[in-house]
Amino acid sequence: MAKHTLERILQSQGFGTRKWCTKLVEEGEVSINGEVVTDTRLYLETNGLVFSVYGEEWLFREHLYIALNKPADYECSRKPSHHPGVLSLLPEPFALRDVQPVGRLDHDTTGLLLMSDDGSFIHAQSSPKRHVPKVYVATTQDPVTPELVTQLLKGVKLHDEPAPLAAILCNKLDSHRLEIVLEQGKYHQVKRMLAAAENHCTALCRTQIGQLQLKDLNLAEGEWRYLNSAELELLAPISA
Ligand code: URA
Repeated sequence: MAKHTLERILQSQGFGTRKWCTKLVEEGEVSINGEVVTDTRLYLETNGLVFSVYGEEWLFREHLYIALNKPADYECSRKPSHHPGVLSLLPEPFALRDVQPVGRLDHDTTGLLLMSDDGSFIHAQSSPKRHVPKVYVATTQDPVTPELVTQLLKGVKLHDEPAPLAAILCNKLDSHRLEIVLEQGKYHQVKRMLAAAENHCTALCRTQIGQLQLKDLNLAEGEWRYLNSAELELLAPISA
């Protein structure tokens, strides 16, 4: 159980500097259980705390674990240059909490993107030592042939990679689409693997991370939601 002052709680949840949060409270913009609270030094139990800021209700969360169905034309980088950043799809306080994408999808890749402000979670999920499979559906320019599938499963040599990289699973879905499962997360890996196998990726969607499937999250493109603890467990690696 943790108790903190209201101003500190608001600051921790991304509502601004301590000074700004004090102002919010003093100006009557914060309420708890439907009652406006103006005492910034009020000590409150954070566990299960529900509060409203400008009439919008929030549950206190020590950390944020979010799934976003990323649309095309959004960048995962911290300083997006050509397209809006994925953070612009989340509520404003999340950026102040330093929520970041867990790994990156290219600006034109769609699908499942995890986001969090928990450094150890981000680090653990991104570690190459963890063998968390990631499933992608790739659309190809040229037809998907049995030889292409065999090549991707056997491994293809990428420029700058010392050893060939192989898919752990690869299935043809239809004439121009395949499902590919990777354990690594190298830069542009799917696109580069397809190019190395003499095809070309024209569209890419990440459909699953670990056992967490995008389709089970019921998110339209551009929508996000908090992950619950059962969903977080689905992100476990195959082996440590
Ligand atoms: N592989 C790619 O080529 N791009 C992505 O965005 C993800 C995996």
